[in-house]
Parts: sequence; structure tokens; C-alpha cells
Amino acid sequence: MIYKTIQGVDVPALGLGTYLLTGRACRRGVAEAIDIGYRHIDTAAVYGNEEETGQGLRDAGIAREDIFLTTKIWMDNLIPGRIAPAAGESLSRLRTPYVDLLLIHWPTPTMELEACLDEMQALQEAGKVRHIGVSNFPPALMRRAAAHAPIFCNQVEYHPYLDQSTLRALAQECDALLTAYSPLARGAVLRDKTLKDIAAAHNKTPAQVTLRWLLQLDNVAAIPKASGSQHRRQNFDLFDFELDNEQMRRIDALARGKRIGNPSWAPAW
Ligand SMILES: NC(=O)c1ccc[n+]([C@@H]2O[C@H](COP(=O)([O-])OP(=O)(O)OC[C@H]3O[C@@H](n4cnc5c(N)ncnc54)[C@H](OP(=O)(O)O)[C@@H]3O)[C@@H](O)[C@H]2O)c1
Repeated sequence: MIYKTIQGVDVPALGLGTYLLTGRACRRGVAEAIDIGYRHIDTAAVYGNEEETGQGLRDAGIAREDIFLTTKIWMDNLIPGRIAPAAGESLSRLRTPYVDLLLIHWPTPTMELEACLDEMQALQEAGKVRHIGVSNFPPALMRRAAAHAPIFCNQVEYHPYLDQSTLRALAQECDALLTAYSPLARGAVLRDKTLKDIAAAHNKTPAQVTLRWLLQLDNVAAIPKASGSQHRRQNFDLFDFELDNEQMRRIDALARGKRIGNPSWAPAW
């Protein structure tokens, strides 16, 4: 495993994303991921799979402190007074006394950011949340959040087709993690000629090369989702090779402003 040290804490840089993993597939998938060696799991209240994620962790028989577990507060609960109950419901569904990271899932134009962060910090002081963070925060909003509270992470879309160097520099400045979601561009990287060439040179796949590229970037973690056992194993099998500077630069050069997750409620990026 590669770890990223953020605010003095070592975070496993490769995690399992669970969006669209539900029911028994989620429970089994999370348990199997732990067996493979994953120690970082990403869920969210809105994914509707917190119960199964928690069950999977218990099935795996892993000590709670050996897992880095993230969940997220959905937009309708970004109101002072609602955050603590929403987080409490997530903890009940996960059946865990705390999460390692609690994120604001998406910013909204009406949220009172500072008041929301205050409530999240109170949860931190109560031991229900180890670290607090944000997701889908563009640079100006990330700066505002970090000026108010110790933001541990900004989780954003990040893959070879979307340059996130501004947010990455900001993460370094704030001693925060930049967690890459949709790191495989939902599968688009698999067909890429440059990534295929680099993969062939290492006897790896384009998915492994893409994840390795992210993990070699300062302050970056990646949370690929894989519903199949083979993909979960393949995505974890990337600690035995390294991309050189030229290969890193060739992948950097693939950026073309392609954004997959751009719902109607997205902020102005
Ligand atoms: N904060 C946010 O707003 C936000 C938004 C989106 C996602 N996320 C998080 O980020 C996670 C990952 O993002 P994502 O699910 O959007 O996209 P992703 O991880 O880029 O792509 C997932 C797709 O790639 C396939 N895949 C995975 N490993 C593969 C491999 N080795 N070879 C070939 N195909 C492979 C998966 O197929 P199979 O499923 O068939 O294995 C799935 O179709 C989510 O699950 C979620 O936890 C967060």
C-alpha cells in the first residue's frame, strides 16, 4: 500500500468506491476487498449502501481501527441542526461508533458553509468523526472552507482527461488529501492508446497505469469502484511497478477538460 500523510495521519491511498454497489453485492464486495488488502472504503448516505458496507466490514472480521472509512452528508441535510442527526443515522446504518472522514457531498448555493463546518467540528470533538472534509468543492470554495476549519480532504472527479492541478496545489497548501473519484473515467481509460502503450511496457493494464499515476501524485488518493472480483484484484495489484517521469508527463498531457460528473446542481467549476 502507498500511504499519504495528511495532517500527520497516514491514509491508505487506494480505496474502494461503492457508488452503485448495493445489497448483497456490496456486502460481499466490501468483505472481499478487505481480504484482498483494501483498507480504505468510500460510501455515502445517498448511495443507500451504508448498512451493507458496515456488514461487509464486520464479515471481513477486520479491527475497526485498521480501516479508513468515509461517508458523506447529502445536500438536503446541509442545514445547521440537521448535520448531526444525519451523521448519527449514517453511524447507525454502518453500525460503527465513528467514521474516519465525514464529507459535505456537494456544495449548495444556499448552504451556510461555516455553520455546517462548525457542526461537523462538534461531531469531531464528540469522537463521532475523526476528520472532516468536502467534496466537489472548486478552488475558491475550498479556500473558504479551509480558512474556517481544518479540511482534511476534497473529493473530486480526477482522471487523466481532467486536469486538477489547481486543486492539487491547493490541497498541498492546505495539507489536505485530494481524493480522486471516477479515477478510471468510468472505464474510458481502458481504450486509451497512450495508456495502453505505457501499460504494455509494464505488463499491466490501462486501469492499473491510471491508478498508479494518481497514486504517484502528491496528496492524491484514488477510490475506483469495481463490482467484480477480478477488477477489485486488478486495481489493487499496482504496488510492484512505478511510472517514470516521462510516463507521468505523457499521462498528464492527456488532460482535455472532460468531466463525467456534472449534474444540474454542480457548482461553477
Ligand atoms: N463525491 C462524489 O460526488 C462522487 C461522485 C462519483 C463517484 N464517487 C466515488 O468514487 C467511486 C468511483 O467512481 P465511479 O464509480 O464513478 O467510476 P470509476 O471508478 O472511474 O469507474 C468504475 C467503472 O470502471 C469499471 N472498472 C473498475 N475497475 C476496472 C478494471 N480494472 N478494468 C476494467 N474496468 C474496471 C467498473 O466496472 P465493474 O463495476 O463492472 O467492476 C465500473 O464500470 C464511486 O464508487 C464513489 O465511491 C464520488
